[in-house]
Amino acid sequence: MDSNVRPESMQRITNPQLAQAFIEEQVAAIRAQVGDGKVLLALSGGVDSSVVAALLIKAIGKQLVCVHVNHGLMRKGESEDVIKVFGEALDANLIYIDATDRYLDLLAGVAEPERKRKIIGEEFIKIFDEEARKLSGISFLAQGTIYPDIIESKGVKAHHNVGGLPEEMAMELVEPVKLLYKDEVRVVGEALGLPHHMVYRQPFPGPGLGVRCLGAITRDRLNALREADAILREEFAKSGLAEHVWQFFVAVPDFKSVGVRDGKRYEGWPAIIRAVNTVDAMTATIEEIPYPILHKITNRITSEVEGINRVCLDLTPKPIGTIEWE
Ligand code: XMP
Repeated sequence: MDSNVRPESMQRITNPQLAQAFIEEQVAAIRAQVGDGKVLLALSGGVDSSVVAALLIKAIGKQLVCVHVNHGLMRKGESEDVIKVFGEALDANLIYIDATDRYLDLLAGVAEPERKRKIIGEEFIKIFDEEARKLSGISFLAQGTIYPDIIESKGVKAHHNVGGLPEEMAMELVEPVKLLYKDEVRVVGEALGLPHHMVYRQPFPGPGLGVRCLGAITRDRLNALREADAILREEFAKSGLAEHVWQFFVAVPDFKSVGVRDGKRYEGWPAIIRAVNTVDAMTATIEEIPYPILHKITNRITSEVEGINRVCLDLTPKPIGTIEWE
């Protein structure tokens, strides 16, 4: 039987009991596969890699080495959260690499979206490879592959797989959630005790804020984007919108417009809000955000974020607009 095909008899994991049964089965399978070997995992802080990390920590504890690469394109507080949850609460073997300068130096002046993505993806592999070489005795590589990745790698979204690792990394793969759908991964994550916000967080592209800081990335504009995005997320959470909007974020283009602040001319970038609903990310509709919430977000972003002087709303469904701007 092809181990990459989900058997028709496999029950959908929809509740904590089914999740527990899956966890027990996988813990045993991981122990049988790994023995007393060491396993390496690239832990981005996304749902899939986080759930795999928690599962492996339960199965093999310190035999798992997690590497979290902060490419400087994370949302506000994300890397700190990974350190708090995995390094502290779960006491994992966690290597944290702050590669912000390395990435931003490489990306300086690069405006073309595909080149930006390529640089971000390739640099990740380089850094991860460098770290792997420093460690000895690692013979397994864990990955947060889920079932849609297996289905989609047959075509449509191959360009999204920025995290693909080089084949010469001769390690045996450990992919405990590869037959699960996203909703099942989340149920398993909660059963493993991961925080709700981590397990139910919205999708975030591998190249991170890099594809939302449009054109050539600069540190000041990236910071403005990160702060504006944090305000948007905070207000969506407070108003309850975060519970039913599939994905929402801010993009900041690389041009300025004229404005006035404190009685003086104030040139700044616009913050563009995008909030979409979708089932499979192949098409998407626009979420209607109540105007009072939009006004509040606009007031906060334009008064709290250095460098932003306008807020715009993207009303474009997919198609014709993709969800991300780049
Ligand atoms: P688009 O922009 O193609 O996005 O409509 C569809 C969904 O995929 C996410 N996305 C990515 N995810 N690596 C990822 O892991 C990527 O390079 C990437 N690009 C887009 C996007 O956020 C949306 O949810």
